[in-house]
Amino acid sequence: MNDLPVSYVRLTRRQFVAALGVGAGGAWLTACSGGADGGRSGAVVSSGTPFQEPEVLTSTDGLLEVTLRAEPMSVPWGEAKRYAYTYNGSSPGPTLRLRPGDRLVVHLENELDDDTNLHTHGLHVSPAGDADNVFIRVPPGGSRTYTYDIPTDHRSGLFWYHPHAHGTVAKQVAAGLAGAIVVDDEIDDLPEIAASTERLWLLSDPPIGMGAGILEANAMDAMAGRTGDAVLINGWGLPNLAVEAGSLERWRLVNASASRYYRLALDGHQLNAIASDAGRIDAPVELGELLLAPGERTEVLVTATKPGTFAVRALPYDRGSTGMGGGMMGGDDSAATEEAVVATVTVSGRSEPAPLPAALLDQGALVPPTPSASRVLELGEGMGGMMDGGQMMSFTIDGRTFDAERTDVSVALDAVEEWEIRNPTHMDHPIHLHVWPFLVVDAPPGSGWKDTVNVPAGESVRILIPFTDIAGRSVFHCHILDHEDLGMMGTVEVAN
Ligand code: C2O
Ligand code: CU
Ligand code: CU
Repeated sequence: MNDLPVSYVRLTRRQFVAALGVGAGGAWLTACSGGADGGRSGAVVSSGTPFQEPEVLTSTDGLLEVTLRAEPMSVPWGEAKRYAYTYNGSSPGPTLRLRPGDRLVVHLENELDDDTNLHTHGLHVSPAGDADNVFIRVPPGGSRTYTYDIPTDHRSGLFWYHPHAHGTVAKQVAAGLAGAIVVDDEIDDLPEIAASTERLWLLSDPPIGMGAGILEANAMDAMAGRTGDAVLINGWGLPNLAVEAGSLERWRLVNASASRYYRLALDGHQLNAIASDAGRIDAPVELGELLLAPGERTEVLVTATKPGTFAVRALPYDRGSTGMGGGMMGGDDSAATEEAVVATVTVSGRSEPAPLPAALLDQGALVPPTPSASRVLELGEGMGGMMDGGQMMSFTIDGRTFDAERTDVSVALDAVEEWEIRNPTHMDHPIHLHVWPFLVVDAPPGSGWKDTVNVPAGESVRILIPFTDIAGRSVFHCHILDHEDLGMMGTVEVAN
């Protein structure tokens, strides 16, 4: 199976994926969905690919120094291969494990054909100089050394890294450039947590195929936000996680897709949320399902109960449409996704279910701070240039597309601002702010400190942002990365 069918270039990507077949261990979007009982409690078929995680690189004596080489590579796809962008030959890249107070040094090498750079999504670190500075561009063949100092009072949790060179972000992330950052945890010493098994779930949906051509999106895909051919967990299709009945599983999930939303549920089990993007919540919150927009993270505890094989499902989600489909572009502009099984969990053995912790250690300040200023941001769509012979939309904030030279929002250091983000468009937009985590006003249960919030079509969301500790200039944007590349990004400068 290492030699791909010669004719694959003439197939659409989707046909090509199907041609590989499930026997290759490849899972595609509709694999295994349905089943008895509407699929909710019936038997599901597992791919046999064991659940795997990327290599973990851990700081020692306060320092983690790594090289990340961004380069195209063939990576395993069942018994075959697929083309991907990798860090050091793997997609996702290595998991970086840090403690508050550590220094992270990354030597980034660019072996791609486009500019790239590195962003540490969610870390509360300086956006200046050679730290989390997304205005830096590293040209093809170039390299750059980044140094990040993690504050001693940094919140623990799951963060992630990915490229952020405006105009190339959707392509590079969709192609596989992403990795997890874990800031180690003050709750690790709770007895229930110490007895749990921690897993990373990095969700992505790359295009599947064998050449660089698979990475090109047409105008319609870009406007809707590109989606790929298969949902992968840590780079693997439809993995099977084997767990012991009674044990407590601790899952850290990150949506590293360029555009796809995941509404996740595990057959026969509740998910107990213990953290959202950027911090822990006070006590576990029981959820039947959870929604992860691009860029968002969540952490859940799951008690395996009865023996059997259970599906982890991505339930249908409709994030709207551009309104540019049909006649004008001749394409389908709906961004709705169908139900799919993305992994299976096989529970074996029998024992009493492990208890959940009653409370999680307080990381402080889930009490909303009082804002000293407020502002309104309005998301929008405009007319852009031509692409593929069709009219391209641009995506705007307050009527403007991104300009790295322009400062859109100026904030005094230590101000607490309330932002109302209005979305009068027909698509959801997940809005993300770098460096300064926020709380969502009237948030659903399970939401703590966050850095990305979904603003549904036709709705508005208010967030409270303490611009404390760190001054500098950075960005906020839609994390449907095509929208970011098409202009839906602004700059914020926090100064004394
Ligand atoms: Cu996940 Cu501006 O980034
Ligand atoms: Cu970010
Ligand atoms: Cu958007």
